[in-house]
Amino acid sequence: MVTSEDDPTRSAWMDVPAPDYAPLGEDTAADVCIVGAGIAGMTTAYALAAEGRNVVVLDDGPVGGGMTRRTTAHLTNAIDDRYVHLERLHGRDGARQAAESHTAAIDRIEAIVREERIDCGFERLDGYLIAARDTPADLLDRELAAARRAGLADVVEVARAPIGTFETGRCLRFPRQGQFHPGKYLAGLARALERRGGRIFCGTHAAAVRGGDAAHVVTTAGRTVSAAAIVVATNTPINDIVTIHTKQAAYSTYVVAARVARGSVAKALYWDTADPYHYVRLHDDGADELLIVGGEDHKSGQAHDGGERFARLEQWMRERFPAAGAVTLRWSGQVMEPMDGVAFIGRNPGDASNVYIATGDSGMGMTHGTIAGILLTDLIVGRASPWAGLYDPARKMVRTPVEYAKANLNVAAQYVEDYLGGGDVDSADALAPGQGAVLRRGLAKVAAYRDYDGMLHEHSAMCPHLGCIVTFDDVEKTWDCPCHGSRFDRYGRVIVGPANRDLAPSSHAERVPRRHVS
Ligand SMILES: Cc1cc2nc3c(=O)[nH]c(=O)nc-3n(C[C@H](O)[C@H](O)[C@H](O)COP(=O)(O)OP(=O)(O)OC[C@H]3O[C@@H](n4cnc5c(N)ncnc54)[C@H](O)[C@@H]3O)c2cc1C
Ligand code: FES
Repeated sequence: MVTSEDDPTRSAWMDVPAPDYAPLGEDTAADVCIVGAGIAGMTTAYALAAEGRNVVVLDDGPVGGGMTRRTTAHLTNAIDDRYVHLERLHGRDGARQAAESHTAAIDRIEAIVREERIDCGFERLDGYLIAARDTPADLLDRELAAARRAGLADVVEVARAPIGTFETGRCLRFPRQGQFHPGKYLAGLARALERRGGRIFCGTHAAAVRGGDAAHVVTTAGRTVSAAAIVVATNTPINDIVTIHTKQAAYSTYVVAARVARGSVAKALYWDTADPYHYVRLHDDGADELLIVGGEDHKSGQAHDGGERFARLEQWMRERFPAAGAVTLRWSGQVMEPMDGVAFIGRNPGDASNVYIATGDSGMGMTHGTIAGILLTDLIVGRASPWAGLYDPARKMVRTPVEYAKANLNVAAQYVEDYLGGGDVDSADALAPGQGAVLRRGLAKVAAYRDYDGMLHEHSAMCPHLGCIVTFDDVEKTWDCPCHGSRFDRYGRVIVGPANRDLAPSSHAERVPRRHVS
């Protein structure tokens, strides 16, 4: 796991340290073992502990050190894939359940904040869906009608969003959305979980997950957690080799933040309908307000122009919010896009019935992660959930055969490109400090990174998940897999699955001393 000192970029939530706990030092047992201390894992742990379950949480980094601290934390029921699309794929009932569950998730976060007295700046506010220039004229009309059919009776059309400098034209207003500081929220959840007897172990990598009668998780340090049920909440499952990874795709997304005078931009959530879409919020960090603008998504590992994407985001922001000061923060992260617009929360397909997953968060992982907490708790304690069918990871993707085939052809194309293509550079000599690239050495491909002390670090460029060739992300200094979204830090250590092992040491590596990296 990359520590904050290692992060080349900083998000708005890194102003508070992520809670860190001691690693698991001995074998233990629990009712439920949860792998992953992001919003999905922590909410699930908290909800189960609140029901009297004995819970153990394992994370190889600190609490909330994954995508949860790279989010922009809009809490919304304005589905980013749009209700019209959801209705087409999941029917009216499915769209209604989606609206109901995301609304319930915001309510649940509000209730937890109140009950546990978590000081995380939670507030309710309106959200505005703005038609981008190239959007079909009737999209907002159709979306309004679909949102109302889904049960959101209070969504209305308004003549414009309340931003004087941004000529938005008519847009949809979604009332009672939310926002908060996700780092402070997770720190509060961790404290509340501990008060309820839950145990959290950080710096503890789950190497293997086994379900069934003697279910257990084994860590890389050789410790075992025995449990009646296991929840894998690692953002993308590390225990599912193929099934789920053909149903979702990893996208990188970019954010810039600039100072604005407090009160100069109306506090609300804003999204447009561009593809990829822009997302905007404000955050009061005590000194002033930050205007946070995100977008410019692309399939992970398949674009290498992060600097230009930041520049385009900044330009988009300046055209609409001319009062924005200098950009003070830039960061990026990854979201898992389910092909039918709905997360995968429930029993892991093809596994024992006591192994559960939460993934497919899309740009709605704050609410999807909270839905996971509610839904997985219901499943584990044996309560019926009205949402179980909609989010079932084993559901068939029957209504999007063309998109499904296209997405998997894209993955197949990566393999061809990987094995027939050359390297990014001819020799490691071409790498300046802070740069990484793939080299071809005979039949092998080598992921080479030169650190700021000039030392070269070489690994096999073959992703340990299913063998695609990783590419270097110059923004976050990570090795990203273009096939299913595995990410490795610049030293080859796995950060995000589905791969669950580091990049292999390169048998072709030059003999250079390896600096210790904490
Ligand atoms: C730039 C950006 C903007 C976003 N904006 C929004 C938004 O406005 N609203 C919204 O709702 N969502 C948004 N999202 C999505 C949202 O942030 C994520 O979906 C959400 O944070 C994912 O939470 P998680 O708990 O599933 O995963 P994570 O927070 O990534 O947690 C997974 C944890 O698992 C741990 N882990 C992984 N493998 C192992 C292992 N083998 N052993 C032990 N631990 C392991 C990791 O260390 C990590 O801490 C955004 C995402 C990004 C990147
Ligand atoms: S993530 Fe599947 S091959 Fe790399």
